[in-house]
Amino acid sequence: MKILTILGARPQFIKAGSVSRAIKQYNSQITNDKSLITEIIVHTGQHYDANMSDIFFEEMQIPKPDYFLGVGGKSHGAMTGQMIEKIEEVALKEKPDWIMVYGDTNSTLAGAMVASKLHIKLAHVEAGLRSFNMKMPEEVNRILTDRVSDILFCPTETAVENLKKEGFPFSTANGKQKIANVGDVMQDGAIFYKNLAQITSNLQLETSNFILCTIHRAENTDNPQRLKSIFEALNEIAKKQQIILPLHPRTRKVIQASNLELETSNLKIIDPVGYLEMVWLIDNCSLVMTDSGGLQKEAYFFSKPCITLRDETEWVELVEIGVNTIVGADKEKILDAYKASSNFKLQTSNLNLYGGGKASENIIKELLIFDK
Ligand code: UD1
Ligand code: UDP
Repeated sequence: MKILTILGARPQFIKAGSVSRAIKQYNSQITNDKSLITEIIVHTGQHYDANMSDIFFEEMQIPKPDYFLGVGGKSHGAMTGQMIEKIEEVALKEKPDWIMVYGDTNSTLAGAMVASKLHIKLAHVEAGLRSFNMKMPEEVNRILTDRVSDILFCPTETAVENLKKEGFPFSTANGKQKIANVGDVMQDGAIFYKNLAQITSNLQLETSNFILCTIHRAENTDNPQRLKSIFEALNEIAKKQQIILPLHPRTRKVIQASNLELETSNLKIIDPVGYLEMVWLIDNCSLVMTDSGGLQKEAYFFSKPCITLRDETEWVELVEIGVNTIVGADKEKILDAYKASSNFKLQTSNLNLYGGGKASENIIKELLIFDK
């Protein structure tokens, strides 16, 4: 079986890294060469700074991409269009059995479009997630990708239910769709890398007494009022507790171009960090504040409360069990949630919301069954 993996953005390196590891593990166990899985990795170039891309391949030992398309830093249309053109060339040359895409970025959508037009089977990892906010570019990307996928790898039962409510499964160019709840590949990574986590920055942090924060969503960075309100809240909180903010380049550019006031002594803005350092920060912080999708779950994996700086989340089960508070960009709501977080006690040890770290293995099994 030949798989063409399409990735391009930071969270996709982390997700696909676990599946590559599972492929390697599978290949090491089979005796018949005909059953080998060959993975060809295409990096679209959506994220291109060393600390947004190379660092993950190096420190997580993810196989180096076979193709680098160099399409990053462009508008949605230019980026997605150029990715489609270049992925198509690779797909025609490599003739894979499967194209595998992850999540909901423009790289995901581009890979999905190529697969469906060339009638190559498409596997979507993180299928079925919905925010029900069609203004989010991610929501559009994931809905379109799900529609043309042959196998929909859902991370949660909620994702499966979302698809069913929308009338899935549908027919595709290759047959009828299969929906499988395989669990969440990010949990596989969190478990695997926990013991390798290390801090390399010279941050001098007091363990369990700092907040880890990230902000990069278009809805926050591209809306000056929302961004101002979030930073006003962070400035207040920083008077009481240190905040570490590894800043996405998108947000850094907006902040540099604005006249936002920042409480600089206790609100520590640093460059994006590698995954091993990130895992250390999550494991050692007292609270996560973020608009990231992935980080909301990682907070849960490491038993930390999370305040989500968005108006909705795809990971609704975390809100239902009370470990994630949705506050949007409202200063007062953020401050209230911060106050309430000090009473947080995670009592979820018997819950298995995300598959327990077997998602990548399940994905390989499902692909082999589908192809039998
Ligand atoms: C993208 C995804 C988003 C995901 C995020 C993960 C889409 C539509 N959005 O958002 O779902 O949560 O990745 O981090 O695909 N930039 C750099 N260096 C880099 C990468 C980006 O300077 O290495 C800057 C550029 O100015 C670029 C901007 O960030 O134009 C936005 O990058 P882009 O990939 O378009 O979107 P993200 O905000 O990263
Ligand atoms: N991450 C990282 N370094 C950082 C910020 C985030 O390694 O400086 C990791 C984070 O732990 C998670 C993933 O990147 O595994 C999430 O990516 P991001 O927030 O960019 O995207 P999203 O999940 O919102 O799509």
